Amino acid sequence: MNAKDRQYGFQGGEFQIEGCRASDLAAAHQTPLYVYSTSVLLDRVRRLKKVMQGIDSSIFFAMKANPAQKLLKLLHQEGIGVDLVSAGEMARAERAGVPFSKMVFSGVGKTAEELETAIDRKIHSINVESTSEFAVLEKIATLRNATPLVALRFNPDVNPKTHPYISTGLRENKFGLTRREILALLKSNPKTACRVQGLSLHIGSQIQTLKPFDDAIRKAIELADEIEKKKLGRITFLDLGGGLAIPYDGKKVPSIEDYGKLLQKHFGPRSKNHGRFHIGLEPGRSLVAECGSLVTRVLYRKDREGKHFLILDAGMNDFMRPALYQSYHGIHSAKKRSGKTEKIDLVGPVCESSDCFAKNRVMPRGISEGELIVIRDVGAYGMSMANDYNGRPLPPEIWVDGSKQIVGRKRGKISDFWRDET
Ligand SMILES: Cc1ncc(COP(=O)(O)O)c(C=O)c1O
Repeated sequence: MNAKDRQYGFQGGEFQIEGCRASDLAAAHQTPLYVYSTSVLLDRVRRLKKVMQGIDSSIFFAMKANPAQKLLKLLHQEGIGVDLVSAGEMARAERAGVPFSKMVFSGVGKTAEELETAIDRKIHSINVESTSEFAVLEKIATLRNATPLVALRFNPDVNPKTHPYISTGLRENKFGLTRREILALLKSNPKTACRVQGLSLHIGSQIQTLKPFDDAIRKAIELADEIEKKKLGRITFLDLGGGLAIPYDGKKVPSIEDYGKLLQKHFGPRSKNHGRFHIGLEPGRSLVAECGSLVTRVLYRKDREGKHFLILDAGMNDFMRPALYQSYHGIHSAKKRSGKTEKIDLVGPVCESSDCFAKNRVMPRGISEGELIVIRDVGAYGMSMANDYNGRPLPPEIWVDGSKQIVGRKRGKISDFWRDET
C-alpha cells in the first residue's frame, strides 16, 4: 500500500474502498463479494508504464491473474495487451476489445486448434514451450502460408526462491526449453515458416528479490548473443514474463520502481543493449493483486478449549490461494477494533480441512457472528480460480471508482449449476 492508496483501508473506524464502506457494499450486494479499487489498479499500471519509459516495450497483462471483462477493458484503455494461455482466454480478451495484435500466447500445452486460431487471428506472438509444439506450429504455419512471430520460452534454470507450485524457471519444472534445446531447435529448423525472433522468460511468481530476474535476463541476453554468433538467427523480441511479488505480509519486496531500474540497467538508453530488443512484460499479480478485497461475513464462532474458529461465508471455492499454496493474506475485521487480541483460525464452510484462510491469526478479541471480515490483496488469482465446489455460486465482483460502484459480475445463480448438463 502506498500514499496514493490512502482511500483504501481504515477510515472513520471502518474499512473503506475509495470511500465506500465495506458494510454498505455488503448490504447492497450481500457476501461473500469481491471488491476492486479502480484507482489502486490504475496506480500500479501507470507506475509500470512510467518505469518503462525510454525502453521500446509492450505490456501484456497475464490475464490468468484476473480475466474480468471490466478489468481487461480498463487495461486496454491504458494501452495494455494480454498474455493468454488458451483459446478461451483469447475469446474473453477479444470480447473486451483487446486487439489480436496485442495478444501473446503462452502455455505449455496449446492444442493444434488453439495454434491455428492464434495464427489465423495474427496475434502478436506465440511463446513456444517444446520442440514438439514447434513442429505442430511449423506444420500449421506452412499449410496456411503464415509467418507467425515465435518466442521460444527459455528455461534459464534460475531459482526464483518462491513457493514450489509457482516456480517455473528451474530445469526440473515442466516449462520452456533449455539453452541446448533452443540451440538444437534452431539448428534443425534453418528454413522455418515461423519468424523465430523471440525469446520468452517466466521464471515464477511472487518473486521477492531482483536477483533471479537479473540472472534470468542476463542468461537470455547471453543466449541471444550465442544464437547470433552461431548464425542460427537474430533475436529482436525479449518477453520477460511476470513474477514480481507484492507485499502480502507487509514485508518489503522490490517495488515496481526497483524492477524498472533493473530493466533500465539492461535495456535503458544507457545500456549496451538499448534498442536491440523489443521488450515484452507479462505482469499479473503486481498489477492487480492489491486492488482487490474479499468481503465476507462471520457465520459462526466456535470456541474450544485453547482453540477458536471464525467460520466465514467465503470458502476455498471463492478464494483458493490459501488452500492451494498456504498463502498469507492480510485479514481484518471491517470495523476497526483496538484492545486485546486472540489467536484464531479463519475458515470457510467447505467440507475440506484445507478450507482455511489463516491459522492461529492474531485478531482483535471477541469478533462475533454477523461481523464483516475483509481479506486483502485478492485481485490476482482470486476470482480467476473461484469455482462452484460444494454447490456454491460464484461471488459477484464490484468495481469502485470514486463515487461510482459498478457491478462487474453478478452473483452466480444456483440454476447455472445444471445449465449445461443433460
Ligand atoms: C507465462 C506467464 N507469464 C506471466 C505470468 C504472470 O505472473 P505474475 O502474476 O506472477 O506476474 C504467469 C503466471 O503464472 C505465467 O505463467
